[in-house]
Amino acid sequence: DLKGFAFDLDGVIADTARFHGQAWHQLADKVVTEWTPELADSLKGVSRMDSLELILKAGGHENDYSQDEKIALATEKNDNYIKLVETLTPADILPGMKALLDELKANNYHIVLASASKNAPKVLKYLQITDYFEGIVDPAKLTHGKPDPEIYSEAAKLMNLPANQVAGLEDAQAGIESINRAGETSIGFGSSLQDADVKFAHTGDVSLAAIKEQMDK
Ligand code: BG6
Ligand code: MG
Repeated sequence: DLKGFAFDLDGVIADTARFHGQAWHQLADKVVTEWTPELADSLKGVSRMDSLELILKAGGHENDYSQDEKIALATEKNDNYIKLVETLTPADILPGMKALLDELKANNYHIVLASASKNAPKVLKYLQITDYFEGIVDPAKLTHGKPDPEIYSEAAKLMNLPANQVAGLEDAQAGIESINRAGETSIGFGSSLQDADVKFAHTGDVSLAAIKEQMDK
């Protein structure tokens, strides 16, 4: 039986995947890499520096910048992203997610955050939902990002639960793979997450009952 839920943030709890996309698009224009839907999708769930490398590689620029210049580019992207984050309010929580958090809390489930974003605490603060989470996995302490299972394994550890009692919620392929490899139940939002154990087209479709119904099938 499930006892704990590990939430991805960007694209699951808030529409901040769009903000990351906007800021990376600006960066891609600057380094002259063509911005395509495929490139945008491949960045979801991926850490800041790995995302930068993917953008540089897509344009054939992987050898054009020194490490210091790469850090400057990533910092510029992050400054642009933070400007967008500062506009967030509780109204930007995606449909169904506040209700799910309330339902889980009322039923004494463990709740932690498993986001690759170093900005996650700030985003939670603007959305005013920090108190729902008993822990936040610190992405700065991870050796490997999604799709490696490390972040979701750490989430289970934070809750003191074995993997088979934990579910992870994700909007990205890299995240679903991370959950699956950690041996946890994967819950995917969106239309392109074939490998998720439980699937919802929209966040608004989720509830504890709807999750259990798909698991029992
Ligand atoms: C993930 C996002 O949650 O966090 C990625 O899906 C982002 O798009 C990554 O690159 C790292 O975020 P940040 O805020 O640390 O740059
Ligand atoms: Mg995400």
